[in-house]
Parts: sequence; C-alpha cells; structure tokens
Amino acid sequence: MFKNFWYAVEFSHDVLPGKPKKVKVLGQQLVLYRKTSDNSVVAMSDLCVHRGAALSGGEIKGDCIVCPYHGWEYKPNGEVQKIPAHPDKGIPRKARIDSYPVVEKYMFVWVYMGDLPEEERPPIPDWSDIDDTETYRAVTGSFLWKSNYERILENGVDVAHTPFVHGGVFGNREKPEVPEFEIDSSPWHCKVSVELNPPRSKGIWGLINPNKQKALQDRPPVPVSTTWWLPNMILLHIKTPMGDLKIFDVNVPIDEETTLVKFVALRTFFKGKWADRDAKRRVFKVLYEDQAIVDAVRPELLPFDLSDELHVKSDYNAVLYRRRRQELIEAGWSVEGNTIVGEGPARVEARVIPSPVRKEVPELASAWNFKEVRSKQLRGGMAEREERGDLPRTDSGIDGDQTVKEVKA
Ligand code: FES
Ligand SMILES: [Fe+2]
Repeated sequence: MFKNFWYAVEFSHDVLPGKPKKVKVLGQQLVLYRKTSDNSVVAMSDLCVHRGAALSGGEIKGDCIVCPYHGWEYKPNGEVQKIPAHPDKGIPRKARIDSYPVVEKYMFVWVYMGDLPEEERPPIPDWSDIDDTETYRAVTGSFLWKSNYERILENGVDVAHTPFVHGGVFGNREKPEVPEFEIDSSPWHCKVSVELNPPRSKGIWGLINPNKQKALQDRPPVPVSTTWWLPNMILLHIKTPMGDLKIFDVNVPIDEETTLVKFVALRTFFKGKWADRDAKRRVFKVLYEDQAIVDAVRPELLPFDLSDELHVKSDYNAVLYRRRRQELIEAGWSVEGNTIVGEGPARVEARVIPSPVRKEVPELASAWNFKEVRSKQLRGGMAEREERGDLPRTDSGIDGDQTVKEVKA
C-alpha cells in the first residue's frame, strides 16, 4: 500500500451534511464530514489525540467536529480549539491531528494520503467523462472483496482471462488468443488497446446489437482498452456495436487484505432510467466472476520480485505496474500497514499517514503526538537483490521468447 497518492474513498453523494462518516483506507480510519459554512468536505484522522476516541461518533458544530468522549473541538485543519473541561487554560501545542487535502470530482471524494507539497503530488486522472451527463448515463456501485487491491487491479486490466472467467459475458472461449495490442503509458498509467471478438450480447443489449444475426467470423471485432493508473484506478472501455461502455473503478485498499471496489459505469445507449438495473447487474456479474478467482489467488499479496511469478506477453501491463511499484517502494512510498493504528490486532502505539502540514510547518515538527507510519523496506538494496537474482534478467521482465518489441510505445 502506498502513501502520497490521491485516493477516491467515497462517493460524494454518500457524504451527507451534518453526518460524520467513517471510512478506512491504507489501514487507517478517517472521518469525513461537510463543513456547515460552504458544504466542502473535511478528511481527518479518526483518532482523538486525547484518549483515542473515534471522532466519527461525534457531532459537527459549525465547521468543527466535536469528540464524543470529552468534547474536544477540532477545527477542519486538525487543531483543537476548545477543551471544555478547562475553558480558561491554554490549548496544548500537541492538541492536533492530521487533516488531509480533499477534492470532490468525478462523483468521488478524493483524499490526499501523504505529505508531499501540491506541486509534487501525482495527478488525479482525467475522468471528466463521468461529468458528461449529456453523452453518458451512469450507474454506480460498491463491492467488498477479501483480497488485496493489487491482485484486483491486475485482474481488472488483464485481457487474457476474459474468455475463461467471463466466457458468455464478454469473453469468448472460441477466441482466447490475445492479438497484437497497442500500449500508451506514462509513469502514472498504462493503457492497452486491443480488438476482441466477444460473444453475442444477451438480454436487452442483444436486441439492439446490429450484428446479432451474423456468425462469429463475420462479426467485426470490438475495440477494447484497459487502463490502470497508480495506485489503484482502472478504466475498462468497450466500443460495443450498440455504443460505448466505460467502467471506471477505484480499488480502495481498506487494508492489505480487504478492498472496497467502487465503480461508475457509463453507457451511451439505453440511456433511460429503466435500463439502469440491468446495466448494474451486468457489472456485478463480471465482478462476482472475478472475485471467485482472485479471492483464491496465492500468495495473497503481489510478490515483490518480478521473477517470483511467470510473465508472458499479454501480461505486459501488469509487468509495467510491478516495475513502477518497485520504484515506489525504493522511493519509500510503501507503508507498513500493520504499523497504522486501526481495526485488527490490539496495539499500544498509534501511527498514522503524515499529512502535508507536517512538512509545510517545520516549527510544528515536535507538535505531533502520533508518529508517522513506517515505510516498507525491501530485503537488501538494489545491488544485493541483483546478486540474488531477484531483479528481472531481461529488460522487460517477460520470460522466454515472449518479446514485446512489436508493441508500440
Ligand atoms: S478522547 Fe476525545 S476528547 Fe477525550
Ligand atoms: Fe475480469
């Protein structure tokens, strides 16, 4: 799990005025609430600095949140402004908790879980299609998985599994080959574009498919693209004969082994409300099929070394993801989830993801009661791992003659 990224943690429409909401990301609990003055969302560590009570059980008072245990009042920036037991005494310097930057866009509340200054933060991808309600009709949904978010991310962008896991929906067992594909990538994303031959659509979608009478070999291929963005976002884009289908999803790492998938599925056909239930049912069907496989994948977590699993050409985007992930671990962005206080085993120490203020205001360096989460360390440095053979021998990390030279960069 990585700090320093923007995480979409909740749908905007599920954070209601006057109601604090507890969410969990990277093993840490946060409280989200809307300020009374301008309705904007605050995201704070859900851990009172006094005796560790959960602020999410408290009340909103103006723009502040009041701890339910002894009534300490927190400002949106995480500073305590009132200690009711001693109204005439000063507020201790350490009476503060981490409050994280928030933006609301593309139907989600995005929280910046890290301490980098604004100009160094990785971008939120351009998902403006979600806001284009003229062109698209949207349905949304959430789905909890008992598996690691990186396993789910790799599954979501993997083209080769569709004939086997989704045969009958959009995978075709008669055509399992992955044809030549195009790659478009940056340090933050990787998009694979390919043409597939899905089976006939069933149900109401099948009715308007212009190719419904044609035999498989006569039906034109369907352009499909899968994209990942670091650290946990996916887009599946299918140009069906009926129109465009775009499924955006975020795989929220609740902790190392639990993931909350939240999706927005857009379509340009059957845009009436009456077709929403059917559209949603189709996404869930695919997710259930994936879940049955991914929940049983071992090891549960993605291995750190590329050479621990075998990669072939159609795994190109997954290999790229794993390489970037290694770089981020080397950069110290990976967090030891089990050092963050949250649910799970009883602990005596509270660690949290640091918020930007910790770096922005050096005078406050000693004013933080909760320590920062530890970064994950790989066994040994680059040189030692190379020696052990833990780094890929070839440039791409793809084994044998499964070269990717013909892939467009
Ligand atoms: S625990 Fe929050 S005010 Fe005491
Ligand atoms: Fe799948």
